[in-house]
Amino acid sequence: MVNEMIMVIDFGGQYNQLIARRVRECGVYCQIHPYTISVEKIREMAPKGIILTGGPNSVYDEKSPHAGKELFQLGIPILGICYGAQLMAHTLGGKVATAPTSEYGKTLVKLKADGALFRVLPSEAVCWMSHTDYIEDVPVGFKITGSTDVCPVAAMENDAEKLYAFQFHPEVTHSVYGRDMLKSFVYGPCGCRGSWKMDSFVREAIDGIKEKVGDGKALCALSGGVDSSVAAVLMSKAIGKQLTCVFVDHGLLRKNEADEVEAIFGEAGNYDLNFVRVNAQERFYKKLAGVIEPEEKRKIIGEEFIRVFEEEAKKIGAVDFLVQGTIYADVIESGLGQSAVIKSHHNVGGLPDYVDFKEIIEPLRDLFKDEVRKVGLELGLPEHLVFRQPFPGPGLGVRIIGEVNADKVKIVQDADHIFREEVKNWGLEGEINQYFAALTNMKSVGVMGDFRTYDYAIALRAVTTEDFMTAESAKLPWDLIEKVTTRIVNEVDHVNRVLYDCTGKPPGTVEFE
Ligand code: XMP
Repeated sequence: MVNEMIMVIDFGGQYNQLIARRVRECGVYCQIHPYTISVEKIREMAPKGIILTGGPNSVYDEKSPHAGKELFQLGIPILGICYGAQLMAHTLGGKVATAPTSEYGKTLVKLKADGALFRVLPSEAVCWMSHTDYIEDVPVGFKITGSTDVCPVAAMENDAEKLYAFQFHPEVTHSVYGRDMLKSFVYGPCGCRGSWKMDSFVREAIDGIKEKVGDGKALCALSGGVDSSVAAVLMSKAIGKQLTCVFVDHGLLRKNEADEVEAIFGEAGNYDLNFVRVNAQERFYKKLAGVIEPEEKRKIIGEEFIRVFEEEAKKIGAVDFLVQGTIYADVIESGLGQSAVIKSHHNVGGLPDYVDFKEIIEPLRDLFKDEVRKVGLELGLPEHLVFRQPFPGPGLGVRIIGEVNADKVKIVQDADHIFREEVKNWGLEGEINQYFAALTNMKSVGVMGDFRTYDYAIALRAVTTEDFMTAESAKLPWDLIEKVTTRIVNEVDHVNRVLYDCTGKPPGTVEFE
């Protein structure tokens, strides 16, 4: 399906996914593989180029990951970054040592104009450094193409052998010309032409699905989130009514959400698929009655989801394929290079293992989130769905502190709806990565009109983040918070107080439970 590929070999660096994303942004398909990949396998996969990533180790430590000389003799262009650069130097006879001065952060690098990857760049550029070791001597045949005040070999190359190395990280946006350098590598020595485009992905994916499914039947667990929605639409374009989507309303969705999902995928929607909506609210509330411990709540919701899904799958019967919205980040996180067993569903925490599917289809398995969104737009999914913020599988269950019941769900749905509406009115939708209302389990005294109230406090949560691993509390305009507060207290019964959560992650988490 893809005729040119750059292989990223992972040595455990923190920016490895970023490297793959940058290469794809250049229009070139890219896969990440662990450093344990064999030279034979690399030869078989025939990448157009290889990028060796950074990593936390020292190459002169025997226990660190190493590479044989054969890797560099494959005739495939290689770019080593940070640890990858040191590994190239070390393996080919150069010398790597502890740097007298470590460099961390934005650093001015002098670039030689005759460096094959720097030809169109200025003679100096700010690059992102993060190293305690450095290359002291380059291997025979290499020349130095970049340096800093304290790092004599910030870049080196052996252009005849198509081997290049950067001590800095071109993939990080702080490296001002980093993208140009990566582009020079993939389009120059690697000779890529840039065939990785989302419209061709869609065409080829549809053809591939048609071929695989034949006249069989497929089942998709549709959550209404971006990934499963895009997977469902891609499948429906390929196999139409042979696909059944099961959407479980567990009663913990945002206000109107279930109806919105049904409007898109149900009979009135634009897609030619079988859509089953299961209204399982009461069932979930019953299971959750009296439960306050967060992990127990999560477990109950995840398990009950599976039970409902199983029942529906049985009703449909004789399904050959299970469709999952797994994306590349999930693949990487669940262990590189591992094949598809039924993995923990990325959104609901597990799928039935009794169900005897012939095969799992993961049509988005190779895509990063931003690519999934592009595919969604390409397939005509509405923008509000394609760009929606993340929503946890256990839904409002983890945004209601303490016991969950229908009344509390209604309170948090209404408050959340107001908050989202106002953020949109203020034009801030695109600037905050995630924002929602949660119901604290706290009741306090207030006064409304001439009456004493004793009611719940709603917490507003809004965060900015790159990857949701860390996050900052968003500095929302005070007027916005005030407006939301007034509306919530006036419009939502049983709320007399609104609090704003200023906690970052760490020490907090994004969700409350
Ligand atoms: P935390 O609360 O761990 O959240 O800081 C980080 C991001 O993950 C989302 N989240 C989940 N997503 N299933 C999901 O699909 C879950 O069980 C789940 N729990 C948290 C959360 O909304 C945030 O974007």
